Amino acid sequence: RKIYVLNGPNLNMLGAREPEVYGHQTLADIEAAMRKAAGGVEIEFHQSASEDVLIGLIHKAFGEKADVILNPAAFTHYSYALRDACAMLASVGSRLIEVHISNPHSRESFRHNSVISGVATGVIAGFGVDSYLLALSQLTRN
Ligand code: DQA
Repeated sequence: RKIYVLNGPNLNMLGAREPEVYGHQTLADIEAAMRKAAGGVEIEFHQSASEDVLIGLIHKAFGEKADVILNPAAFTHYSYALRDACAMLASVGSRLIEVHISNPHSRESFRHNSVISGVATGVIAGFGVDSYLLALSQLTRN
């Protein structure tokens, strides 16, 4: 099964963006680490600040019955459109793992709610860049 790794707004700025919260690794570092850990599994890696683009990629994953690792970034907290796209995935057997670098529950109250979690297979948050690798290891173990 192919895996889409999708990243929302501002994650292209990792490394420079609030390093005390998000660390020093860049999105390119995350992509490289995932490709290395993926073994033979095919990974499609994208980042966009556009709901339109992210929803289109979820539709592609749906069409291909691919699994998805999604860091929705700020869309986590308010994008019902992205949630509705994600809600389709289970019907084709695609798993969705929501990931966060930080632990949103230990931060501002507007980050405590995720509109995505309710349609995710599981959620991994708070382990820095390892959140992505933990999600990947779960998807590739079966
Ligand atoms: C984030 C947490 C979100 O609250 C925030 O808007 C982000 C990044 C994380 O990975 O910790 O952009 O999803």
